[in-house]
Amino acid sequence: MLSETNARCCDLLGDWRRSHHCAQLSSADTGYDVTLMGWVQFRRDHGGLIFIDLRDRHGLTQVVFNPAINAEAHERAHVLRSEFVLAVHGKVRLRPEGMRNPTLSTGEIEVDVHDWKLLNTANTPPFPIEDRVDISESTRLEYRYLDLRRPRCMHNLIFRHTATLAARNFLTSNDFLELETPILTRSTPEGARDFLVPSRLNSGNFYALPQSPQLFKQLYMISGLDRYYQIVRCFRDEDLRADRQPEFTQIDMELSFVDQSQVMDIAERMIRHIFYETLSVSLPDPFPRLTHAQAIADYGLDKPDIRFDMKLHDITDIVRHSNFRLFSSSPLVKALVLPQGAHLSRGEIDQLTDFVSIYGAKGLAWIKIKPTAWQSPIAKFFSEQERNALAQTLTLKNDDIVFFQAGDPDMVNNTLGYLRLELAQRTQVINQSSFQPVWITDFPLFEWDAAEKRWFARHHPFTSPQDGHDEFMATHPEQALAKAYDLVLNGYEIGGGSVRIHTVDMQNRMFNVLGISSEEAASKFGFLLRALQYGAPPHAGIAFGLDRLIMLMTGSSSIRDVIAFPKTQKAACLMTQAPSRVSTMQLRELGLKLREQAG
Ligand code: AMO
Ligand code: AMP
Repeated sequence: MLSETNARCCDLLGDWRRSHHCAQLSSADTGYDVTLMGWVQFRRDHGGLIFIDLRDRHGLTQVVFNPAINAEAHERAHVLRSEFVLAVHGKVRLRPEGMRNPTLSTGEIEVDVHDWKLLNTANTPPFPIEDRVDISESTRLEYRYLDLRRPRCMHNLIFRHTATLAARNFLTSNDFLELETPILTRSTPEGARDFLVPSRLNSGNFYALPQSPQLFKQLYMISGLDRYYQIVRCFRDEDLRADRQPEFTQIDMELSFVDQSQVMDIAERMIRHIFYETLSVSLPDPFPRLTHAQAIADYGLDKPDIRFDMKLHDITDIVRHSNFRLFSSSPLVKALVLPQGAHLSRGEIDQLTDFVSIYGAKGLAWIKIKPTAWQSPIAKFFSEQERNALAQTLTLKNDDIVFFQAGDPDMVNNTLGYLRLELAQRTQVINQSSFQPVWITDFPLFEWDAAEKRWFARHHPFTSPQDGHDEFMATHPEQALAKAYDLVLNGYEIGGGSVRIHTVDMQNRMFNVLGISSEEAASKFGFLLRALQYGAPPHAGIAFGLDRLIMLMTGSSSIRDVIAFPKTQKAACLMTQAPSRVSTMQLRELGLKLREQAG
């Protein structure tokens, strides 16, 4: 039936031209002849008239097929179904009183169809093209081109364009040059696995897709092209989450002859500009700052959500001599108060205990503050003095509940940090419409990897130590702080950067601490080490995760919602079925053989 319709009805565009888009016409256009093109959102037949809501990316316009105006055009319109594509030519007129739709920008008018063309038919879509669809994400991703027709998705992509444009405009007017960097390149160490591309012409050799343009942007600085930026795709083979994709986009920038404060200043001015231009939101000026140590102390995490308070408290000293062995023997004990949380049931507390086990917590001690007594399995262990000290330090009030975590500092901070977020979400204390940026500074230069028993660069190996901290590098790497900074927005790390090492001597010392031998350094980073010896200027930069930024700005819950063609948790594209098998012939050309085929 459809193919019949198809064969019978599909018209050529011919000399028809769109005169307006579907959100453009208003009462001011009454009486004009117009040509609209778009998709059938909705069809209604009423007393001999056929009404169609015609949709394009801008919006909807009601068009009317009236037998009294053109009987043949009206008769043909009976074939129209959802998502058919058509061009209509007609006259704008005011809708009759009482038929106007104030919620629609074109709601005052309709277009009387004088002639129309069926540009294409459509199969019945697997889900209706509207925001409120109750359908699995996998179906939406399989038919992503239909999903993108939904207003919400379309809005996100259009918003993404507008925000990217605001970034480009800001950077261009601040003397930055948009410069490209290679996609087929060598591995750069941003801490994830590389995606590798086999080389046909150099059998047995591989390119790596860039985890970021880090080294190339530094080379641009050495080239003298100070102030680089790029809206650039990065590739990281890591486990995916709601805020991580294997390919994602950075607003990447690098500047010469600047220190940390200048980079932070220009970066935050850019973010303020983007927010103001797109959402008319004025972010604080300047953005607040926290040192890494302070962030961990107060919030447990290095990406604190500062939209609400509920800070963590270190109570190690208060419970050092308590009768509760777990507390008196732990290197760190911290507490988190949920104001007015004493109504939580045992069941709810058990749920929270399960929740914290994800972060390695073996349990979750708690105390409910009741007017007559403290209710808790562990209250009995505390002396009067300890209770008073706790009540004072934690400013406890009746009907509060306190949660405790004791043990290894990383586990304690992480656990209570995420518990704090979980409790805030459950109790809805977060103002969802507010945006609260915060800089995190003074990061440790290194991180100890217990499994591999070696130091890693916490940001990346090209990050400069703070002035004077290079002295710690060889002897006490844990004490060395970096000239590195992250920008956190509403609990998400949206950007990170650093002042770079710009002398070959310091870069070699850095590789040394990281256990990278001079041979390995020469083979992997020889080009950088050589370039640093040809007059490298002091330089610094930062990169923002564009997808995360747009996710937050559009109030989306996943970066998949703001990426046109995203991958699933298993890094697959459900629409194209990538990744896929390749032919033996292709493998042979690349000098490759799959293990299962080998032998
Ligand atoms: P970094 O690795 O911190 O720094 O990355 C910068 C920002 O990119 C975003 N991001 C991601 N977004 C989505 N999916 C991912 N898998 C993903 N990984 C990172 C985050 C992060 O803050 N070259 C350095 C920057 C520099 O030093 O200038 C770099 O890439 O928002
Ligand atoms: P137990 O003596 O093992 O029954 O533990 C007493 C309380 O301490 C229980 O409420 C446990 O959930 C809690 N608990 C166990 N391990 C920890 C920990 N590492 N930090 C905080 N509380 C814990």
